[in-house]
Amino acid sequence: MSHGSTAHGPLAQAGAPATTPPRAPSGGQEYDLPEPPSKVDFSRAKTAGEIPRLKVTLRVRRYQPEVTDEAYWEDFPLTMLGTDRVLDALHTIKWEHDGTLVFRRSCAHGVCGSDAMRINGRNRLACKALLKDLNPDEPVTVEPLQGLPVEKDLIVDMEPFFQSYREIMPFLITRGHAPARERLQSPEDRERFDDTTKCILCAACTSSCPVFWTDGQYFGPAAIVNAHRFIFDSRDDGGDMRLEVLNDAQGVWRCRTIFNCSEACPRGIKITQAIQEVKRAVISRNV
Ligand code: SF4
Ligand code: FES
Repeated sequence: MSHGSTAHGPLAQAGAPATTPPRAPSGGQEYDLPEPPSKVDFSRAKTAGEIPRLKVTLRVRRYQPEVTDEAYWEDFPLTMLGTDRVLDALHTIKWEHDGTLVFRRSCAHGVCGSDAMRINGRNRLACKALLKDLNPDEPVTVEPLQGLPVEKDLIVDMEPFFQSYREIMPFLITRGHAPARERLQSPEDRERFDDTTKCILCAACTSSCPVFWTDGQYFGPAAIVNAHRFIFDSRDDGGDMRLEVLNDAQGVWRCRTIFNCSEACPRGIKITQAIQEVKRAVISRNV
């Protein structure tokens, strides 16, 4: 599929004078086609190496259970590009310094939620944390998420997190027969739960919650956010069941409105507000 990046696409048409490309002569004769005019002034471009580099020490919390029972810190002095992220630094360590370092990542672009970790004491996605924003003059600390069992290095066991997620039934529940066409919804009804659809299940919120740290029994912000997404969906008929699940000793009432979750969320979801809305819905059962 063409996206207009060729000399014959919209970009070229917008910037180039209309010229008729020379016809290829018959008989297989070759000649050079003229370069299409470029919008970029390459005479001002310098070399790729001019991206500023920075020296940074990544201080990584290591846990290698097959080697030692104790977790420990290890420093990795690195020279990185000024545009690099913590994920790039972790790749550099793994690929060039120590292949035993393990961490999760997939998309590398803030979409899959698999590389949430504690960076300089705050939960973030490694693929969204730019080194230059983290004061590289000091060692940048990288630790696994808190409140979940560490399996190895930066990898935690996510099962307790996903157990709570499963319990709130994160799928559409309807009564009656399936309709012959799609279930319609007004833009206003869709807007009602728009914010909580943005969750990527990274666990940055739940693992930043002191209530979750105490015993790991609290459902946690992420499960409530995902319950909210369906409770306030006008097409869903399972709201009461989810509210009953969350009206539990380990449910919404354990939230102490500390706001750690909202600050940690890489998607900017207003988590504390969503939890408050679910609390009100439990009381009113008005969904
Ligand atoms: S609500 Fe935000 S922080 Fe929590 S799991 Fe979803 S995306 Fe991550
Ligand atoms: S690797 Fe997918 S969100 Fe960071």
